[in-house]
Amino acid sequence: MNAVDLIVAKRDGGELSDEEINWFIDGVTSGSIPAEQAAALLMAIVWRGMAPRELATWTAAMIQSGQRLNLSGLGRPTVDKHSTGGVGDKVSLVLCPLVAACGAAVPQLSGRGLGHTGGTLDKMEAIAGWRATLSHDQFLAQLAEVGAVIAAATADLAPADRVMYALRDVTGTVASIPLIASSIMSKKIAEGTAGLVLDVKFGSGAFLPDPADGEELARTMVGLGRSHGVSTVALLTEMDQPLGLAAGNALEVSESVETLAGGGPADLVEVTLALAGEMVDVAGLDADPEAVLASGRAMDFWRKMVEAQDGDPRAPLPMAPEVDHWTAPASGHISRIDALAVGVAAWRLGAGRARKEDDVSAVAGVRLRRVHGDRVSAGEVIAELHTDDPSRLLAAHEALSSALSISDTAPEPRRLIASRIA
Ligand code: URA
Repeated sequence: MNAVDLIVAKRDGGELSDEEINWFIDGVTSGSIPAEQAAALLMAIVWRGMAPRELATWTAAMIQSGQRLNLSGLGRPTVDKHSTGGVGDKVSLVLCPLVAACGAAVPQLSGRGLGHTGGTLDKMEAIAGWRATLSHDQFLAQLAEVGAVIAAATADLAPADRVMYALRDVTGTVASIPLIASSIMSKKIAEGTAGLVLDVKFGSGAFLPDPADGEELARTMVGLGRSHGVSTVALLTEMDQPLGLAAGNALEVSESVETLAGGGPADLVEVTLALAGEMVDVAGLDADPEAVLASGRAMDFWRKMVEAQDGDPRAPLPMAPEVDHWTAPASGHISRIDALAVGVAAWRLGAGRARKEDDVSAVAGVRLRRVHGDRVSAGEVIAELHTDDPSRLLAAHEALSSALSISDTAPEPRRLIASRIA
């Protein structure tokens, strides 16, 4: 087979055969297909899309490029959650111990953040001593003993995705529904979870801002999950404004711990409990996540989960040496705080990375003091900007310059959960 034939066929709107797809994914994984040819085919897919049969074969080939874990011997149902990512989205930190406290095993194999969206591993690494890397045996032992694991995905889990995602990241080929769906689902299916709840975001801070695209992505992923025997449900949730008050690694851990202690911002609690309810249902458990959260049992699971990975859940979180303020330019009601602008500001303050190799700051980020619906006066502090490098403040302020919408009348409440796709 010849990669140029596949590229030309897809470029001209043709369909690839199963043999061609399997050959291509094998070649990408082994490195026998050069990056420029792989990137050209990915770009042709961005423009031409994939037929359902092509996507099914493509995803199956990505799963088969590595190992598929078997979690069936754990003695309790397995269920995971995946979010398409957003600003201030620390839901996994609360959800993983909460759903474990409800009786499930939650195998959260996660990634690091890139660009304006934070990564779960970066957040957890703000905790003193915590380590993201576990061997397979350690991962399985923790899942059996604690029921909750957040850890880095190992290199043998869908390695085709690792190669293609790195290429897509630098060739403008991320934004494609079939490529995103196969990338996410190949990793989640290979992880071995029996159930999966997807949090598909829409709005300015999401990968796909248009809700119609989010819905199509959700339907595509639910279909892929089901066809591989994983019970999959998706919620389409709003990411037009940040979730909770904090965007930044240690700041988000602190807000998650507050939520596990029974407090936390109302929007974060609402989205977390909605997803937890879906996870408990998918796992076939008879538990009430709201009551479990209120009982403090989720906090016990959080501590065990952190300690199992050498973290100290009682150690104070690091704090930024420099805190500046972002203030309201006018008086009125806050009708919108743009999620993308806040994400970019947190990133510029040091919370995110521009390239995979970059380090992130544990302490940098944005903490909102006022949110949607609040009445504010001109000059009042809307948010704290945290950083360890004051030279970053100017760029963060620039990112926020048109982030705030202020109106004379109180805005409608936010509608956080737009739809459920099953
Ligand atoms: N997250 C993934 O894992 N893959 C994508 O393609 C996009 C987001």
